[in-house]
Amino acid sequence: MNLTLKIWRQKNTAAEGKMVTYQANDVLEDMSFLEMLDVVNEGLIAKGEDPIAFDSDCREGICGTCSMMISGVAHGAKGTTACQLHMRKFKDGDTITVEPWRAKAFPILKDLVTDRSAFDRIIQSGGFISVNTGGTPDGNALPIGKLDADKAMDAAACIGCGACVAACKNASAMLFVSAKVSHLATLPQGKPERDRRVLSMVKTMDAEGFGNCTVTGSCEAVCPKEISLDFIAQMNREYGNAILKNRAERKSSGD
Ligand code: FES
Repeated sequence: MNLTLKIWRQKNTAAEGKMVTYQANDVLEDMSFLEMLDVVNEGLIAKGEDPIAFDSDCREGICGTCSMMISGVAHGAKGTTACQLHMRKFKDGDTITVEPWRAKAFPILKDLVTDRSAFDRIIQSGGFISVNTGGTPDGNALPIGKLDADKAMDAAACIGCGACVAACKNASAMLFVSAKVSHLATLPQGKPERDRRVLSMVKTMDAEGFGNCTVTGSCEAVCPKEISLDFIAQMNREYGNAILKNRAERKSSGD
């Protein structure tokens, strides 16, 4: 099939960007979206032009780096990453727009590549558990109920791609942060630090410039791992409890 691509080109963070039109001819329906871009780039390189910069790593829907808006939708379709989107989803003659994530907290580095290190800083502020290292513990030493295990696994499916932020009119990162907070708060290993974790991660999220959730559900609609909005509700409860406990502790210690 032959396609018309309108792709955002921007030399660097400070430069002005613009949409540039390219033709992608003889595209095979079994190609992934990134493979199609690879072929377009080979053509650009052969002509001595600058190839389109885009991120990718695993190309298996695991790493979350292939961030791009495809025809206005994060990753181009529900429940998939751009690397797992196949060209059979498109029709011969289609015009496809390709843009980087749209969020102030994810500045554009070049073309479709954005700086998503704000997510790393949120994780650094609390998305971990502290344990003494030593011998490998027995797998069954800490029994976890089936419901909790399933819930934690659902939250842990978040790959931190940032589609939730890009789709949200407020550029809110609450689906991402809530998945990480809920994942750890649900498991026994994460309970000792649960209050400190949620307070710190929410504070960092706000400091990084992400907006607040107004429950439009656009994040859940585009999340490639279909993370549920329920985790935002759980994070709000975790946050409220942590604030109340903090206040009560300060009061009893006379602060
Ligand atoms: S390249 Fe890893 S999820 Fe797409």
